Amino acid sequence: MGDADAKKRRAALAALQLAAHDAVIGVGTGSTVNLFIEALAANPGRVRTAVSSSEASSARLRAAGIAIADLNELDGLDLYIDGADEATAARHLVKGGGGALTREKIVAAAARRFLCIVDDTKLVATLGRFPLPVEVIPMARALVVRQLRARGGDPVWREGFVTDNGNHILDVHGLTITDPVALERELNQITGVVTVGLFAARPADVLLIGTAQGVEQR
Ligand code: 5RP
Repeated sequence: MGDADAKKRRAALAALQLAAHDAVIGVGTGSTVNLFIEALAANPGRVRTAVSSSEASSARLRAAGIAIADLNELDGLDLYIDGADEATAARHLVKGGGGALTREKIVAAAARRFLCIVDDTKLVATLGRFPLPVEVIPMARALVVRQLRARGGDPVWREGFVTDNGNHILDVHGLTITDPVALERELNQITGVVTVGLFAARPADVLLIGTAQGVEQR
């Protein structure tokens, strides 16, 4: 196992310890979450059911014997567990490297508590080194590109990738995100944008950071 995987696994196992027995949980997407799903598989009956943020995670959850719930049938969620591409000390996040940002934001919004599991390489002082994913309606792609360029970004179409919602992703390079809450609000207003991969208006409640030594909680 590589160093990065070992750190991610430590964060994933710490998240499982914080989940109440028999909880209804939301499950994110990505390599760190995959390690969390592995941990669930090794602990049958640990959680009651899960709402998934992507088709990819749903397939893994089913393979692990975890029942998938429909968010519309639930009165919210106890807990959401997901990774991130970047995180700050204020628990603001950039997410969407795996393209699941829209469903991730929905599940995060429905959750009473959001645990974000990352390895320590994801911590940054200022968001923006990782290109900011923006999900767009396909016919609006060029329109949104022009709007993002006007705001100083350099959007690159993630060509060949289609989200679970049938949309496209623009990865916006060159941003220094000093006010994530304001930028999330502003970019959400661009016609044709479905979701911005900034999780700042609803940040994580807890960061579990896997390090070489153990897990830090912030
Ligand atoms: C997927 C995400 C992931 O949480 C993010 O890309 C981090 O992935 P990983 O755990 O593989 O580093 O937002 O849309």
